[in-house]
This record gives sequence, C-alpha cells and structure tokens, in this order.
Amino acid sequence: MTARQQPKNLWLGRWGFILAATGSAVGLGNIWKFPYMTGEYGGGAFVLVYLACILAVGIPVMMIEIGLGRRGRGSPIDAIRRVARESGRGGLWSLLGWMAMLCGFMILSFYVVVAGWSFSYLWKTVSGGLVGSEVGDMAAIFAANNADPWALGGWSTLVTLITLTIVGKGVQQGIEKSVSWMMPGMVIMLAIMIGYAMLSGGFGDGVDFLFSFEIGKLTSEGLLAAMGHAFFTLSLASGAILTYGSYLPDNASIARTTFTVAIADTLVALMAGLAIFPVIFANGMDPAAGPGLLFMSLPLAFQAMPFGSVFMAIFFVMLSMAALTSAISMIEATVAWLNESKGISRIKATCGAGIVLWLLSTLAMLSFNLGADWTIAGKHAFDWLDYLTSRFMMPLGGLGMALLAGFVLRHEIFRSELGLSNTQHALWLFMVRYVSPLGIMLVFIDSLGLMDL
Ligand code: PHE
Ligand code: NA
Repeated sequence: MTARQQPKNLWLGRWGFILAATGSAVGLGNIWKFPYMTGEYGGGAFVLVYLACILAVGIPVMMIEIGLGRRGRGSPIDAIRRVARESGRGGLWSLLGWMAMLCGFMILSFYVVVAGWSFSYLWKTVSGGLVGSEVGDMAAIFAANNADPWALGGWSTLVTLITLTIVGKGVQQGIEKSVSWMMPGMVIMLAIMIGYAMLSGGFGDGVDFLFSFEIGKLTSEGLLAAMGHAFFTLSLASGAILTYGSYLPDNASIARTTFTVAIADTLVALMAGLAIFPVIFANGMDPAAGPGLLFMSLPLAFQAMPFGSVFMAIFFVMLSMAALTSAISMIEATVAWLNESKGISRIKATCGAGIVLWLLSTLAMLSFNLGADWTIAGKHAFDWLDYLTSRFMMPLGGLGMALLAGFVLRHEIFRSELGLSNTQHALWLFMVRYVSPLGIMLVFIDSLGLMDL
C-alpha cells in the first residue's frame, strides 16, 4: 500500500471514522423519510427491497468511495484525479468529484431549512407554543412558522452557523469531537423514545405497519424509491463519505467499517419507525406524508399523552442532532478542497463556503414565503435542489464511481485498499461492474421519464 499519499488529516480515535460516517448517514432521511416510505410502499416488502438495495448497491459503492478517499488522500476532486492518474487515466474523471462536491453542497442548502424546522419546533415545545387540539391547528402553526422569512431564515441561519463552527474547528477538534458525544446521545434518546412508544398502547399497530409483509402494496415506484433512498440515506455520491474516507488510517478495514455504518444506519431507520408510528396510532391518527408526519401529527399526538411535551422535546433534540451530524459532512468536501488544494486556511475556507451556502439556503428558505411564486417549471428553489440532487446527481455520481472502480482503475488499487479475500473481491467486483450500474440505471431512466414501469 505504498502508493497512497501522505494524509493531511487522520481520525484520532479508533471510532473516529465510524462515528463520523454514521453521523453523516443517520439524519433526516432515517427519522423522517424512511418510516413514511416504509408504510407507504408496503411495510415489510419495502423493507426487504430497501435492504437489497443497501446490500447490492449501497454497500459496494460505499466501499468504492472510502477506497478512493483513502487512496487519493484528499477531497473528492483531488482524490479521484490522483487515483485516476495512478491508473494512467486522464484528469477528466475528477469531474465526478466536482459533481459530488456540488451535490453535497446543494443538499445542505435545503437540509438546513428542514433542520431549522426541527430547531424551531424544539423551541416551540419548550416555550409552550405548540398547543392545539386538532390537526388543523397544527397545520396552521406549521404554515405560520414558514410564512415569516425572518423567523424561518433565523432558524436555518442558526443551523448553518453551528455547522460552520464545528467544521471550522477542524477534522479532529470539530467534527470528531462533536460526533463523539452527539452520536451516543442520539442513540440514548432514540432508545428512550422507543421505550415511551412501547408504553403508548400503539406499539403493536406500529410494528404491524412497519413490518407487515404486503407484497401487493409494493409498486414499481416503491422499488425505485428504495434505490434512491439507499443513496441518500448512506450519504453516497455527495462527497461526504469519500472525504471522511480520506482521513481513514491505513490499517482500518474498509469492508468492516462500511458494514458497520450501513447496519447502524438501517437500524436507526427501523428504530425511528418504532418510535414514531406507535405514538401516531395510539392517538388514532394517519401516518401522513411529508412534513406533516413529524411537524403536525406527531406534536398533536404527544400533546394527548402523559409527559408528552417532555418526550416531544427529547424527540426534537434528537432530530436536531441527527441533522447536524449530517450537515457537517455535506460541507466538509468543499472545505477540504479549498484548504488542501487551494491552500486557503481552514477558517477562511469555512467562511467562504459558508457565505455561498447561506445565500443558496436563503433562496431555498424563501420558497416557503416571499419566493413562493418564484418557480421554474412549477418547482421553487427548495424543490429544485432536492429534485436535482436525489433524482440526477446522486444516481449519476454512483454510476460514475461504479464504472470507474469496475472498469477503469487498475485492479491492484482496490485489491490493496479493500484487502478482501479472492472470493469476496470477486463478489464485490461483480456487484460494482454489473449489479450496481444496472440498478442505478433503472432509477435514472425512470427519473428521465423515458420508461413507464
Ligand atoms: N444521509 C443523510 C440522511 O439520511 C443525508 C445526507 C446526504 C448526508 C448526503 C450527507 C450527504 O439524512
Ligand atoms: Na441516513
């Protein structure tokens, strides 16, 4: 393994990478999106398909990203360029790194708005502003929360500033330190929430809803959603995992860490469902779509329960922390690139990236109030950022990495980085060459609207 660059940064602790990568993976995708999708697309049947996507596409691609990061020891752009050069290929492949970096940045610009909702709901819970007796009241509270650009922008700006502060402090002192207490804290709070859900009286219904195997509910749309979500939930093709991988020590096993992160992410998603749905069902509510589930139905359900506001506060602290540990990973690629490649100090790089981020996130935030009419093809900025990243950039980036690792790079590179046995390596290569590209292409073709499955 002599071909590797000297790293500029390394995780300090044995758990550094795993905690940071799990922190990146576990986020709004797990606690907000996954439970809803599972119910919507057929419960247990969807969970099975989702697990298959994680195994066949998510895990192999995550191994590629960590391998590229560690081999190239740099931001996505630099790492991919170096590894491609090492294989005698042109620097054009670094465009993949550009797209990933941009993708992470764009996701962050709408993610901070949703994280801002979580912060503001935590504040409302604590200050008693979440009182209402029916879903209509909650919808009005949510609408009012979005209607005021100063308040909404204030919350997303706060999330942005916390994110920048952590990232500005550096890989070890900022990122690693914060995830080392936020992640355990999050898991403890999630366990408390599940305990509370078990006592709510709706636990059985919640379990049924999540795990009942109704194959008839599984639509082709559900299949494609499972594939898309596998990328989003594991933070793939967005520069996050690749950059964190560039700080991975030489002796760490990429395969083992990948499985640990993927399993932890999946467990948290399932646990989130077990914390949310029982509470919803115990109060005779619908598992509504979109923001409604966490920001309308859930607060209303909590209100009707003993010590509801205490647990609602715990819930929103947990959600906010999950969002923060993801947010920091989305901007790290950009900061690392400015710092390592352009020689800009970390503080200045963070400030510079932060200003651009703030402008873009403000545009996303204004979609909910002043800019409600600023649409292109019926979508406003918030929707466009989500749509472009999840429907195009992530699948395309994942496809590019699979093709790069499967067909372009010298085999010796991943043989030494992954350190798998011959059989394991052959299986990984088969996944990377054929299974992942095919699966990704299905999603991609669908989002282009060329195929009506
Ligand atoms: N994985 C995060 C989640 O599930 C989202 C994310 C995407 C984080 C891309 C980093 C990069 O919420
Ligand atoms: Na996730």
